[in-house]
Amino acid sequence: MKIPLFDVTRQYHEIREEILHAVDEVLRSGRYIMGPNVEAFEKEVAAYLGVKHAIGVANGSDALYIAVKALGVSSGDFVITTAFTFFATASCITRNGAVPIFVDIDPKTFNIDLDQVEDLLKNHPQRDKIKAIIPVHLFGRTVDLERLEKIKNNFAVKVIEDCAQSVGSYWIYSNGRIKKSGSVGDLSTLSFFPTKNLGACGDAGMILTNDDNLADFCKIFRVHGARKKYFHEIEGVNSRLDELQGAILRIKLKYLEQYHEKRIKIASIYNKLFDSLKLDLLETPQVHDDLRCIFHQYVIKVKNGHRDSLKNYLHDKGVETAIYYPLGLHKQKCFAHFEFQPLENTERACEEVLALPIFPELTESEIEYVVKCIEEYFKEARRC
Ligand SMILES: Cc1ncc(COP(=O)(O)O)c(C=O)c1O
Repeated sequence: MKIPLFDVTRQYHEIREEILHAVDEVLRSGRYIMGPNVEAFEKEVAAYLGVKHAIGVANGSDALYIAVKALGVSSGDFVITTAFTFFATASCITRNGAVPIFVDIDPKTFNIDLDQVEDLLKNHPQRDKIKAIIPVHLFGRTVDLERLEKIKNNFAVKVIEDCAQSVGSYWIYSNGRIKKSGSVGDLSTLSFFPTKNLGACGDAGMILTNDDNLADFCKIFRVHGARKKYFHEIEGVNSRLDELQGAILRIKLKYLEQYHEKRIKIASIYNKLFDSLKLDLLETPQVHDDLRCIFHQYVIKVKNGHRDSLKNYLHDKGVETAIYYPLGLHKQKCFAHFEFQPLENTERACEEVLALPIFPELTESEIEYVVKCIEEYFKEARRC
């Protein structure tokens, strides 16, 4: 059996007619960049996430870069973030001339450790230069938003939520209120890379904010800083969202809740099957009542140096897996000129994590096959 990590074509086949119709309409309209579909999609995402403004841009990396720029972060400033994430979470800081301060992760959730964030905001020798925090809701799991909001208010520090992997995830506050990821930060960013829970058929991204001034900045920055064409108020960039992507994403947004529910179901099947096997060298993702994880990835931890050999074994059995992430950002060659602290939990995670196939159309028999292969691997490993 061949099981891909992610298969975007299965989803396409289910909604092919709708997509082809929408694509044809756009092509016949002659309006290919930032037209009515992009505008409507922006409004629909804003309503879905409970934010005032949603601003479409070319990709999630640009969304982060523009968000950092919008806060006025520049040379000499620090921004706190996690090193256990995709590169763009940190390059948006350095590309704006600022310096990242990498904080370790909570090993249970893989998300930034908010205790350490708070400690830095209290005790860092140059704490007045810490201009922002960029938490990432990794693998679809929301950071404790209630705590994050308290930190944001208590320390008057700006927050950019990197929601590239978490569109639609939420946190349930102690008073019962539900807030979606992306609705708490001064700015938040989304990626619609094709493999994301809400994936385009190409690149696309979005910036979210409740602040009118920040929204205004982002809206003009994405079009070379011009409110009126050919009159440039600021030195912006070209980061426009395609009308074709807007039209396709509007269709997929209608089904997004169904897609999330299917992923959550798949994760629970994996967890149940693994629980019954009681494999002591394998740790499954925990599920909590106070949040909704949308399982952008289903990531297990494989202990005692078994991760790479299990990965190879699964590859030979036709099961595709991935390692998110093999090297922390604090250890990347391009950042060698900075001095970063070692990050014990991040480094251990880089050695232990393994992402298993997950996408809404994955079948129960495919999940069972993946788990069976893993069971066989550990049986064989025990014999050796
Ligand atoms: C956590 C995180 N941040 C940012 C990005 C960047 O998004 P994009 O690929 O759309 O530029 C990604 C995409 O993989 C991501 O996973």
